[in-house]
Amino acid sequence: MKNKFKLALQRSRPISISLSPNVEKDDVLLALNLLIRPWKWKKGKEIKILENEFANYLGVKYAVSFNSGRSALFAILKALELPEKSNIFFQAFTCNASINPALWLKLNPIYVDCNQENFNIDIDDLKKNIQNNPEAKILIIQHTFGTPANMKEILKVAEENNLILIEDCAHALGAQYYGKMLGTFGKAGFFSFSRDKVISCVYGGMAVTNDPSLAKKLLQLQGKFRQPGTFWILQQLLHPILLYFIILPIYIFFNLGKLFLIFTQILHILSKAVSYEEKQGKMPNYFPKALPNALAISALNQFSKLDKFYIHRKKLFDYYLENLKNTDFVLPEVSREYKPSYLRFTIRHPDAHKIIYNAWHGENILLGDWYTTVIAPFDTNLDKMHYKEGSCLNAEILAETTLNLPTHINIKIEDAERIVNFLKQWK
Ligand SMILES: Cc1ncc(COP(=O)(O)O)c(C=O)c1O
Repeated sequence: MKNKFKLALQRSRPISISLSPNVEKDDVLLALNLLIRPWKWKKGKEIKILENEFANYLGVKYAVSFNSGRSALFAILKALELPEKSNIFFQAFTCNASINPALWLKLNPIYVDCNQENFNIDIDDLKKNIQNNPEAKILIIQHTFGTPANMKEILKVAEENNLILIEDCAHALGAQYYGKMLGTFGKAGFFSFSRDKVISCVYGGMAVTNDPSLAKKLLQLQGKFRQPGTFWILQQLLHPILLYFIILPIYIFFNLGKLFLIFTQILHILSKAVSYEEKQGKMPNYFPKALPNALAISALNQFSKLDKFYIHRKKLFDYYLENLKNTDFVLPEVSREYKPSYLRFTIRHPDAHKIIYNAWHGENILLGDWYTTVIAPFDTNLDKMHYKEGSCLNAEILAETTLNLPTHINIKIEDAERIVNFLKQWK
């Protein structure tokens, strides 16, 4: 009887790629501890400690923290003092969170197509776009899902065309290209510690650079942006606690956990990853902001587990690779040239959307939908993002055919086995 109850409880928790994927018991205890010490929330020594540890880890001179990757990119672009309407190259097959900082500064995104092999920027299409937009000065390189972009070619193209290179490492903390850390190739790089990234403190980000004058401006902006309000910090501290103790254990049980999550988000007790305003290209009032000390403490705890997370992610990645090899799924590229972050195991299949739907409705398995539209999430207003339909055909095909499998620390091999068995039905 006791065992049956335990099993029922286990089954009411979904296998999920999102929903606080990196959070473990120690993170929850830390959040509880911080909850009762509000004097630590805004100011404290941990912000600088995190910045220093981060800079040392990457081997860069400067790391400046913000409350998100969005704020970090906003700060980098602002520090570069670009005139309004300046053109910036971004790849399509991305998230509105990477485009919005440019829009908020009244800059103009130009979309370059991606390749179908590793979801990163297509070099030939980049060259074409440079020819058509010779006045553009900035190139943002996204390392999609933590797989390094072809930096050898990109550096060459950037140098030949005097482009300032910024790396979007939101998915790529710890990843390397020919032994060099991603985030260290260009003028600047930025990272994300949001809820489903390599490490997470619900909301957080870091800008990095070796350029002293850029670093000086970033630090000035960090001071000018100030920190988000007390209630916002409380929201983020409550996130792991409510997910761990209430939402996840009853998530599937008559959908109670899911309803509770929606309810708490409507009441603003918990935050959303992306707001309605952002899907329309607008800026919510909690951007751009500096990183509060409480979230720096959470991020430091997660950062100390980076190697453990990496080993776990790689183990699951290899498991999927081995067990899906004789199926109709197109599996991710593996190369000796680089070390990915293994953030997600991304595969392709003509029925991708149907598979995601059936996994959830039939099996209580929440697979990843990065990305089911060229600029995610699916209800993002593409006009407001300045995206013209048909302009990046590879990205549009990928959006119809891509899904991702979880590799995070809370996924056990048994969970991966259930996912693989489900997927094999689609062979
Ligand atoms: C590719 C990419 N770039 C940038 C961001 C922005 O990061 P953050 O969520 O920390 O603002 C995200 C995250 O949503 C992302 O996926």
